[in-house]
This record gives sequence, structure tokens and C-alpha cells, in this order.
Amino acid sequence: MTNDVLGIIVNGATGRMGYRQHLVRSLLALRDEGGVPLSDGTRRPIELYLVARNEEKLRALAEQHRVEKYTTDLDEALATPGFPVYFDALVTKLRVPAIRKAIAAGKSVYTEKPTAESYEEALALADEAEAAGVKNGVVHDKLYLPGLLKLKRLIDSGFFGEILSVRGEFGYWVFEGGWQPAQRPSWNYRSEDGGGIVVDMFPHWNYVIENLFGKIESVYAETRTHIPERVDERGERYAATADDAAYAVFDLEDGPIVQFNSSWTVRVNRDELVELHVDGTRGSAVVGLFGAKIQPRDATPKPTWNPDLPDTHDYSGDWIEVPQNEPAENGFKLQWIEFLRYVLDDGRHDYDFRSGAAGMLLAEAALASDAQGRRIVLAEQAGA
Ligand SMILES: NC(=O)c1ccc[n+]([C@@H]2O[C@H](COP(=O)([O-])OP(=O)(O)OC[C@H]3O[C@@H](n4cnc5c(N)ncnc54)[C@H](O)[C@@H]3O)[C@@H](O)[C@H]2O)c1
Repeated sequence: MTNDVLGIIVNGATGRMGYRQHLVRSLLALRDEGGVPLSDGTRRPIELYLVARNEEKLRALAEQHRVEKYTTDLDEALATPGFPVYFDALVTKLRVPAIRKAIAAGKSVYTEKPTAESYEEALALADEAEAAGVKNGVVHDKLYLPGLLKLKRLIDSGFFGEILSVRGEFGYWVFEGGWQPAQRPSWNYRSEDGGGIVVDMFPHWNYVIENLFGKIESVYAETRTHIPERVDERGERYAATADDAAYAVFDLEDGPIVQFNSSWTVRVNRDELVELHVDGTRGSAVVGLFGAKIQPRDATPKPTWNPDLPDTHDYSGDWIEVPQNEPAENGFKLQWIEFLRYVLDDGRHDYDFRSGAAGMLLAEAALASDAQGRRIVLAEQAGA
């Protein structure tokens, strides 16, 4: 390993994810801490090259964060020596051609999910990256969240006994625009622009379920477009063509039954915007982005069903909060460190383009399930 500065091209630097999570919370934080922490206790300094389409916005952002290099021309960034890593946070629709260019330029490529708009394309991209011998990785941020790290610890310690079932609840109300501006970009609600909650969230559910509970064998899903018309960033009405809610059941090859509701059309009555409720023979847990609470078998109350009497038992009071124990760190940043160390031959990073393609397969299978009104076996969908 040398001590050279590691150059990273960040494409889509002005976007919601590109800016907040990847730039500010991850890469700029790492830069300002002195670089990527390595296993030998040293740090490898990093330099960023920002790419986006709006020059004015980009310049302001670069100046604000003291980043010298920025451009609206991806080819120019890719041709600049000293930047062996390419990161992609573009809108999904534009991802594949940009990544293809980065692969052709021999870059190590890290990207937001989904890697492509179809499983076929995602798989082709994985093949191309492997054939070119470039290191590749896909954001699997949810696995690095403090709450999910606690859940992993509970699973590894055997807390649950046999896990019987998992219920996931994800969502919140995304304003329709107009009377209150929407808090997500309008392309999310147009399938022709790569939108839809299935394509957005099922790649996450795929790696969350497979890394925590087991291999998914099949999926049954119903999707809906509950709000058919929304108002975009310019105040104009548009037809919402993509699904804004999905109700899914996943069967695992050897493991619990998993249900997941994903919705941009629900009002939150939970502790967090995503929650997983896991029930096992020896204990249960309710886990969010940050928090995790448990109820062991020995502390389980014995409710009796009696519709004649109001139930005065405080069920939420029976749960025990799992302590944080380690300082909480941003999940995106943790994965960035892992990926960059892998690029520097200092450790492994397991979530590659192939894993990204598996996420897209699940999304496609879920959409096929809705269209055909039946359970879809993933192995069959892969060959479809
Ligand atoms: N990991 C997660 O939790 C998570 C969450 C949300 C979104 N995402 C993914 O991140 C990606 C970006 O989503 P976002 O919500 O940040 O979107 P966004 O619309 O806020 O940003 C997208 C970026 O693409 C750029 N862009 C859009 N159209 C372009 C064009 N025609 N030419 C050049 N550049 C263009 C925008 O300028 C912006 O920089 C998507 O693939 C999405 O699926 C991931």
C-alpha cells in the first residue's frame, strides 16, 4: 500500500442521497477526519471529484465544502489521473450507461441501488464488471444501521431460539405536492422514469432478509398506486404511474415467514419509519433504524382474550431497550469505509453487483407477482 491520496469521483453529488448521505455524512466526514481508517491504525487521505449536471449548484456546493475538483462532464472526470474510484448516485435511469463508462475506464465502482432498471441489465453489469476485473460494490446501507446491527447481534447470540416470523413495516406519508411540497423527487412516482416503491425498497429488503434470516425462495406481492396524481417540483400536475405501496410475503428456503408492508401513503404510528418485529421461540424483538427492544420468553405476559373488559395491561412497558454500547455511526459511512478498504486491499466487502442484481430480481418477481396474481419463485423468475 502506498500513502498516495485516494481519488474518488462522486457522480450525482447534488442529489438527495449523493449530497446528504454520501458526501456530507460519509466522504466529507472521512476527508475531514484525515481519510479512510485502515486496519494498521493509519488513515489513507481521500480527494473528491464532484460531478453533477447543474454547474451553478455544483460550484456552490464545492465551494461550501472546500472541494477543488468538480465538473459537469463525466468523461473529463474519468480521464483525470489519480481518481481510481467511481461512485454513482444518479437517478436510477441514468446509472447503467454511466457505470459502463467507469468500468471501461478501469475504475473500482461503488453505486447506489438499484444497479439497473431490470434484473437482466443488472446481471449484465455484474458480468461486465467481473470480466473487466474491476472491484465493484452496491450500497447495502440498512445492514449497517445501529438498529439492524443490534438485531444481527441478537440473532448471532441465539436470543430468538428458532425465528418463526418477521413482520416489517416501512413507510410514511409523502405529500402529494401542491398544497404541501412533496419530500421525495417526483420521478419516484413515475414508472417510466425508474420510480416505484417496489424498485426503490425491495432491493433493500432482499439483502436485509438474506443476510439476517435466510435465502428468499418466493414472493407474493400486491402493489397499489393509491395516489394517482401528484404535483411535481415545478408545481405541475402529473400522473403517478408507479406503485406507491406494496404488501408482500416472502417465503425463505429454510427459515421464517417474512411479511413486509412498504408504503409512501401511511401515517406513522411507530417509533421509527422502518420497524422489524421478529418473533422467536425464546424471545422477540422490535427493531428500527436506531432502536431495538426485546422481550425474552421468561418475561412474556400471559394475556387472555376478554372483550367484556377494557385491557389495562401496558404491553409496550414489557419490552426492554437494547443498549447502544458502541457510539452510533452513520450506516452509509461504515459501508464506505469497508468498500474503500477493499479497494485498498485491506479487508473484504461482500455486497457486489451480483448482490445488487439479486435485489433487482426480487423487485421484478414482486411486480410479476402483482401482475399475475400469484406467488413467484425467484429461481423461475431468474430464468424468465
Ligand atoms: N440507499 C438508500 O436508502 C436510497 C434512498 C433513496 C434513493 N436511493 C437511490 O439513490 C439514487 C438517487 O436518488 P435521489 O433520491 O438522491 O434522487 P435525486 O433526484 O435527488 O438525485 C439524483 C441525481 O441525479 C442527477 N440527475 C437527474 N437527472 C439527470 C440528467 N438528466 N442528467 C444528469 N444528471 C441527472 C440529479 O442532478 C441528482 O444529482 C437512486 O438510484 C435511488 O434509487 C437510495
